[in-house]
Amino acid sequence: MTVMTDRVSPEQLRRAFGVFPSGVVAVAAVIDGAPVGLAASSFTSVSLDPPLVSVSIARSSSTWPVLRTAPAIGVSVLAEYHADVCRQLAGPAAERFNDLGVRACPGGALVLADSAGAFECTIEAEVPAGDHEVVLLRLHDIHDGSALPLVFHRSQFVALGGSLPVV
Ligand SMILES: Cc1cc2nc3c(=O)[nH]c(=O)nc-3n(C[C@H](O)[C@H](O)[C@H](O)COP(=O)(O)O)c2cc1C
Repeated sequence: MTVMTDRVSPEQLRRAFGVFPSGVVAVAAVIDGAPVGLAASSFTSVSLDPPLVSVSIARSSSTWPVLRTAPAIGVSVLAEYHADVCRQLAGPAAERFNDLGVRACPGGALVLADSAGAFECTIEAEVPAGDHEVVLLRLHDIHDGSALPLVFHRSQFVALGGSLPVV
């Protein structure tokens, strides 16, 4: 079935976008001594030279106006055992980092201790895009991780079932 996009509700759009699987990242920093951050599934790699990634942040976010003031921002790729952590990082702001294993980097970026991988970044640009801002982030440091990533698909968390042969 096809649907004209000007007659689509936000709920229908969310379902349509949800057919595309994505990872989930924690975008976080230490600000005035306290952890600040949120979960985002809109992470995308953008450029190798310079090294850029992006996340899209809703204009309604109350966390982003604070987080964007940090001198450096951590982007941690959530691991397959992080479904509850993801819900926590999207829940009430005051409880997001309760009992989480995190590491504050010298520049102020905050990364998850047991992520599938993490980046220390600075904001390169913020591009208005409808009800979101596309935030371009420049990578300054890369933390390797060995865990498999958490996957978000059709509003559910799934794990990678295994690799298909590349033909
Ligand atoms: C799986 C998942 C993915 C999310 N992805 C995004 C995202 O890409 N961009 C975004 O702005 N919020 C995203 N959110 C919502 C934020 O984590 C957070 O709940 C929202 O920003 C509201 O909190 P705030 O007002 O403190 O910013 C996601 C939530 C979940 C559970």
